[in-house]
Amino acid sequence: MTFKDNDSSGDVPTAQSRDLETISLKDLESFKVCPGDIFFSPKRGNPIRLLRAGNAIYEEFIDKYKIKGLQSFKYLPMHNQKFISECHELLMQLKLEIPEEQRLLARESLVKIFYDHYWEVNEESNLLDLVIVCANTFLRFKKEIIEELQDTSLLFYNRSLKVASFSIIVAITLGYYDHDFLSDIYHTSFLLDYGLSGEKFTYHIVQACELERLNPGGGIAYLDDMGILDVGVENEIDIFLNHPKKGLEKARIKCNETFHYPESLYLIEKHHESGNGKGFPGNLKGGELTDFDCICVFTDQLVPFRDDPYKKGDGSGFIKNQVNAITREKSSLGGSNQRLLSRLDHEFKKMEKKKSA
Ligand SMILES: [Fe+2]
Repeated sequence: MTFKDNDSSGDVPTAQSRDLETISLKDLESFKVCPGDIFFSPKRGNPIRLLRAGNAIYEEFIDKYKIKGLQSFKYLPMHNQKFISECHELLMQLKLEIPEEQRLLARESLVKIFYDHYWEVNEESNLLDLVIVCANTFLRFKKEIIEELQDTSLLFYNRSLKVASFSIIVAITLGYYDHDFLSDIYHTSFLLDYGLSGEKFTYHIVQACELERLNPGGGIAYLDDMGILDVGVENEIDIFLNHPKKGLEKARIKCNETFHYPESLYLIEKHHESGNGKGFPGNLKGGELTDFDCICVFTDQLVPFRDDPYKKGDGSGFIKNQVNAITREKSSLGGSNQRLLSRLDHEFKKMEKKKSA
């Protein structure tokens, strides 16, 4: 049984029809991630949803409607263009050719924005905005990789987009702000569960991923309790235990050219290490994980394995809430994770002081 959920069609509830705006094909084409629900409006009857907010925008999709002579779609906007443009501009100032002083100022402005939007309670804060700006700035996987991830499951694809986007927040806040490095950490974080793409993303494995996220060892214990379930030639426990290694092998074969420093792909193999010896495959302890390793471990823990459609205000206090949830669920956080959390907390507190000064 494979966990599929990529049905993006459906009528728009009548109450929402009034809120629909118009977006030209040209404007839609400038996004890599859909900025709202996109509808086709037949002459009679309710608009029909063609794409959900967060779906990938394919060239073929745009071309299909261009050929038909369509100029625009109706859509339900769910993004904040001002926020997206501002963050994109700042992220572009992190490039090596920009003077160092300007890069440092851009980094500081970004940390402040991240703090205000995704740490503090802020009703204006949308997860979709973060996902769009990070995708527009960094995402450059080949089309077949995006299709493979999206065809596995929308849950899988949307979660990967979010994990990759949060890796940008965590890396910049911790002081890693080189644009090429950020691009690599973004793409690596996108592929953490690449070893589960395709037929391997079964219902039980999704449950195991979520339990493991909350408590290292919890996912393996769950699959043990379920007994051995064969999926093709492998059983689910082996699929789960081997996915960090398989994901790394697959990414090296299929995605190497996307990276400035392909060596950073090794992080895929470490994303289930917990730093308290309860992770896998290496059962590594705190001192054996670097801060760099922990960026991926930590961001993978931040995002639940749930199909949460984007909503306005869903980014409000997101990091703080998830950190609290993880901390509550875990009997003890690994040393490296704890160290990373303390540093994040320290950087954000600096922002808090500047704000109240
Ligand atoms: Fe994983």
